[in-house]
Amino acid sequence: MTKNIFKITAILGCAAIALSSCSKGNPPLVYFPDMYFPVAYDPLMKADIAYSDHENEIPAFVKQGGGTGLGPVDGTVAQNPEGLTDAAANTAMTVLEYNEGYDASKLITASPLDPANQAKDLERGKDLFNKTCSACHGTGGDGQGSIVQSGAYSGVPKYADREITIGSVHYVLTHGRNSMGSYAGQLKPGDQWRVALYIMNEFKGGLTAAPTPAVANATPMAKTAESSTSPKK
Ligand code: HEC
Repeated sequence: MTKNIFKITAILGCAAIALSSCSKGNPPLVYFPDMYFPVAYDPLMKADIAYSDHENEIPAFVKQGGGTGLGPVDGTVAQNPEGLTDAAANTAMTVLEYNEGYDASKLITASPLDPANQAKDLERGKDLFNKTCSACHGTGGDGQGSIVQSGAYSGVPKYADREITIGSVHYVLTHGRNSMGSYAGQLKPGDQWRVALYIMNEFKGGLTAAPTPAVANATPMAKTAESSTSPKK
């Protein structure tokens, strides 16, 4: 008997739910209009459309004169302290544009990084190269990374066999080349140059190894032989 009561209740319940959604009224009741009809703001723009009535009420907006986003908290660590722009971000190029950019990048034989930090930059470049690139390129830059040796991937060149400059390494790592994809999303703008610096220094004997007429400030760099095991800062 109790079983039947349960069954009847369940059937009635289902019927009630099913019928209740057959509302002919249009549009249906909307509980959170902001969620159904959201207003897309640009970061930090002034909330002067949808929230105009409220901009003086919401404390976070009031503090910023109606701005919709908050500024960085005091003491926030900058993600791009060198202020180098990430030109690769969101750029779609035609083949022609890519090739022109590649040719132009070969003429760049100096890094925009502060030379005073070179030892640290090379150390970080090595660490990031080993983590990001060596699976294909090999820790020795010989194109014999673990993926290549496993037989899963091929066509990775030896850096020694390529005519590259720090500019072209940076270009290829940010825009990709043929079967190599872009690594712009994995390396911050400053780190992209650190990896390029490390490659030139470690596998090409320094920045002077440019195949193109060298630009004035391309001086040979000190090789940092040891230190993959040194602690990170
Ligand atoms: C998934 C494997 C793979 C990874 C990971 C990889 N590469 Fe490559 N890389 C390649 C292949 C394949 C080529 C050959 C592309 C070509 O020229 O056809 C290449 C070519 C290059 C070249 C030579 C391009 C030229 O101008 O001749 C450079 C420089 C380079 N890679 C840098 C990097 C750097 C820096 C990283 C790490 C941020 C990296 N690669 C990560 C596969 C990889």
